[in-house]
Amino acid sequence: MDLIIAANWKMHKTTAETIEYCQAIRKDEELFKGLELLVCPPFTALPAAAQILKGSPIKLGAQDMHWEQKGAFTGEVSSAMLLDLGVEYVIIGHSERRHLLGESDLWVNQKMKAALTSGIKPILCVGETEAEREQSITEEVLKRQLSSALKELQAETVKSLVVAYEPVWAIGTGKAASPGDAENASAYIRTIVKDIFGKDTGDSLFIQYGGSVNEDNIGLFAVLPSVQGVLVGGASLKADTFSALIQAARKAVES
Ligand code: PGA
Repeated sequence: MDLIIAANWKMHKTTAETIEYCQAIRKDEELFKGLELLVCPPFTALPAAAQILKGSPIKLGAQDMHWEQKGAFTGEVSSAMLLDLGVEYVIIGHSERRHLLGESDLWVNQKMKAALTSGIKPILCVGETEAEREQSITEEVLKRQLSSALKELQAETVKSLVVAYEPVWAIGTGKAASPGDAENASAYIRTIVKDIFGKDTGDSLFIQYGGSVNEDNIGLFAVLPSVQGVLVGGASLKADTFSALIQAARKAVES
């Protein structure tokens, strides 16, 4: 598998819009061979997406989950409920949850443990804010987020983990990180995971870059030695744009 390309729809799309999108993207699925592709619709659109994507190589991801299996947690959704719908991936610790909704490092850790135990593949999001970058504490922030998110996990469990490096200042701003910054941060993430779990686990990591990725710049990130994929927000919302982006990534990797 060369690249993991994930579409994070955030709070977009009704059921009807989801059906239309998934039918459109399926028409191009022949072009996606060899790539790991996933769409992450909001919870309410997961059943429709699951139905249309059934039998397709395009996987289904959720944008969050609670760490408990069931109970009195109004508004929450568990891994069992996601697995029931055929969900294979879950985004954990996205910066919008951390910064807009108060998600703590502790919650991120509990969700990571629950996802890995239940067999859903987490995409762990980490990244510094603009202020943290200006203070030159990016590495400190990444180290804190990673050590806390992966606390009390075992090396075997963390093998082949997907980590998304998403600098907060690049998300939804149209101002992507430079390939050099993305490479440095991704290499650092791998070093931290090696320090905690050993070389094999560090080498097995899939690191995605996320933050204003589009059809024009994806080629720059797809070929970075430390990066094995992208997490795409805005540019994943239209099926034709997302398909063009995927094809641009493939072209960059193959050339
Ligand atoms: P963006 O979002 O591509 O719109 O910047 C990325 C993300 O939040 O995962």
